[in-house]
Amino acid sequence: MKMQWLGLALLAFASTPLLAAECSTTIEGNDMMQFNTSSITVPASCTEFTVTLKHVGKLARNVMGHNWVLTKTADMQAVEADGIKAGLDNNYLKPDDARVIAHTKIIGGGESASVTIDVAALKTGGPYSFFCSYPGHSGLMKGTLKVE
Ligand code: CO
Repeated sequence: MKMQWLGLALLAFASTPLLAAECSTTIEGNDMMQFNTSSITVPASCTEFTVTLKHVGKLARNVMGHNWVLTKTADMQAVEADGIKAGLDNNYLKPDDARVIAHTKIIGGGESASVTIDVAALKTGGPYSFFCSYPGHSGLMKGTLKVE
């Protein structure tokens, strides 16, 4: 009898992810100048979506810094170019850049940072790309984000 109840409890637990969309994700950056994913899908049923960037390397932020920046794909290159001029003190982003939809600060090894996106702001005007705006990193550290 007891085992039957346990079975039911496990079944209920296992079915939970089907009912509630995952409105957050974690992305890792490393000392090899890489993110561990090149695409992120935001469930359209989410009101907000949180991205947590984890730097799993050891190098400092001024040597191998990473951030997570979201823009329209068409804006990515110009945002990156302006970000280089803005410097590390500004997280390699032009202050108050309206083209930046969301971003974390630049972090170093062992650190993490999160940003929460208003999903309603993403439903028009894509496609979207994410990248690291540390100078020279976006060639490898980039990917696409879509709402589905
Ligand atoms: Co980087």
